[in-house]
Amino acid sequence: MRLVVTAGPTREWLDAVRFLSNPSSGRMGQAIASAAVRRGHQVALVRGPVALPPPAGLVELREVETTEEMLAACLQLWPRADALVMAAAPADFRPETRLAGKLKKDALGEAISLRLVRTPDILTALARARRPGQLLVGFALEAEQGEAHARAKLERKGLDLIVLNAPSNFAIEHGAAITILGREGVRGRHEGSKDELAERVLEQLERERAIRS
Ligand code: CTP
Repeated sequence: MRLVVTAGPTREWLDAVRFLSNPSSGRMGQAIASAAVRRGHQVALVRGPVALPPPAGLVELREVETTEEMLAACLQLWPRADALVMAAAPADFRPETRLAGKLKKDALGEAISLRLVRTPDILTALARARRPGQLLVGFALEAEQGEAHARAKLERKGLDLIVLNAPSNFAIEHGAAITILGREGVRGRHEGSKDELAERVLEQLERERAIRS
């Protein structure tokens, strides 16, 4: 398959030296990209700022910073892809304005308010631009009632598969746990390293592809 995989956080800048982001390490997305290369797929990786070397064997690497840039890269790659695995953690909000210079704290006083606006939802945009047969895999990070929320997210975003992650999985290497859900319900519950979990996600994606073709 021709796969697009996304990884890592995005950064939304307030001024020239400050940004909003999250602790995503990019390891899960990169593990999925590596596993997909090993399994013989053609992989384009779109990643936010990640402090790891990119996996070997990619067909294409796009390095982006903001959620808007990640969306633009994904929209470019999508028409030629069979599936997209959205393992990135794009920032959902950005400062309404990005100041050109550095905000000086003395000019701001003791407390400031920051107005944030929503960034685009990448999966929703790709689902809208999808042609028949293209598969979308999302991730869900849920604090509670994980499976019910993940299922609702799969429906809402028009996904084929969703990988439910607990918040405790964030930015760790070992001992992560995931649940993979399809449209019909739970496909599997797995524990292991991010490399092992990546293999489980790809098995399900390949299975989904086989069912559809
Ligand atoms: N995602 C996306 N575009 C965004 C934010 C998230 O495509 N701007 C994707 C993530 O990569 C993930 C999925 O949406 O695959 C779910 O992310 P999550 O943060 O769990 O859900 P949200 O849509 O942000 O919803 P909520 O914060 O309400 O749980």
